[in-house]
Amino acid sequence: MCLVHTVTLKSSGRRFSVAPGETVLEAAQRAGVALPYSCRAGVCGSCKATLLQGACEYPRNPPLALSASALAQHAVLLCQAVPTSDLLLEAREVTSVEDIARRQLGMVVTEKWRLATDVIGLRLLPAHGERRLNRLPGQYLDVLLDDGKRRPFSVANGPQADGMIELHVRHVAGGGFTSWVNDTLAIGDHLRIEGPLGTFVPREDSERPMIFMAGGTGFAPVKAIVEHFIALGTRRPMEVYWGARTMANLYLRPLAEHWARELPNLRFHPVVSDPEHAVGEQATGLRMGLVHEAVLADCPDLSGHDLYMSGPPAMVDAAHPLFLAAGLPEERLYYDSFEYAPDVLAQIIAGRAGIHDARSE
Ligand SMILES: Cc1cc2nc3c(=O)[nH]c(=O)nc-3n(C[C@H](O)[C@H](O)[C@H](O)COP(=O)(O)OP(=O)(O)OC[C@H]3O[C@@H](n4cnc5c(N)ncnc54)[C@H](O)[C@@H]3O)c2cc1C
Ligand code: FES
Repeated sequence: MCLVHTVTLKSSGRRFSVAPGETVLEAAQRAGVALPYSCRAGVCGSCKATLLQGACEYPRNPPLALSASALAQHAVLLCQAVPTSDLLLEAREVTSVEDIARRQLGMVVTEKWRLATDVIGLRLLPAHGERRLNRLPGQYLDVLLDDGKRRPFSVANGPQADGMIELHVRHVAGGGFTSWVNDTLAIGDHLRIEGPLGTFVPREDSERPMIFMAGGTGFAPVKAIVEHFIALGTRRPMEVYWGARTMANLYLRPLAEHWARELPNLRFHPVVSDPEHAVGEQATGLRMGLVHEAVLADCPDLSGHDLYMSGPPAMVDAAHPLFLAAGLPEERLYYDSFEYAPDVLAQIIAGRAGIHDARSE
């Protein structure tokens, strides 16, 4: 019996083979075909595609990101789907990330500072003898831990000549790695990373106005992408929304306000969800409520926009269906959901029916 199956992508006609037990996403990456993804754990939905022919199974994690109606419409999650026959798929390809090889390298911590009470800023440089990581703005990397586990973090700056990488790390209560970063990691320490990862990258094949929506440290990749468009000198309108619980957690608000002052086509909308933190002089200009509600209040019709969002899963989950209902075509919604690492999500999924309690901030 032949256990190797072939996947054909309808729009481009590209084909690749999938080894036994491999997911479609793993096989595509091995073949140099860039399909969209973010969490790699079956919960964020960014790898969603449509199965036109064939069948697959989910032996790792259940496809939690697919609703019953999405399953009925033959949606599949490429990061979890293991083919049981040859497949014909309708899937978006992200050609801009295609030629960038993923690799591991050692980095040295050169700066560590506190951005907010629970957010640490880190700057890393390639360790002696390492080549800088080739990457696109908005992509993320995995920090490789000694026990073989990985922890994903978005890079907050675009590619630099010296290979410098900036990270914004939120301290997760009870989290092993982020607690260590918060309490112990010191300048001069070495970290091993793998990247670049993810398909949350600037899309330049459009003249449409752009909306950026960040929640908490979701500002990191949004910053990298906005800075990229600023450096390009784009004239496309850019609306930057940044939501956090408290004003202090809008930890780079002066930077975003600087963009808005300097650029006639960029507007910044800080949004705070905890009313106690929106009083006083400093609160001037702040919006109250949830950040996706602010986006929808300003732009009830999203059909003419490109929208980039990143941040906590609760924000992404809430915004996703509402943005589509406001007319945003799904293929123009680009997002990273800051899920926990695949090994932790797999344990949580195995341990309970739902994971939403564990994922919320
Ligand atoms: C694409 C992507 C980009 C990201 N970018 C960023 C970023 O730029 N900045 C940022 O701050 N974060 C980012 N994140 C989120 C970040 O990766 C996580 O916060 C981080 O992995 C947490 O690691 P940790 O080791 O501290 O916590 P973990 O040890 O992974 O634990 C996470 C939480 O799960 C709980 N937990 C662990 N195991 C179990 C279990 N078996 N059952 C129940 N609960 C359990 C822990 O108590 C803790 O509350 C990103 C995530 C993704 C997917
Ligand atoms: S659900 Fe597949 S990448 Fe998140």
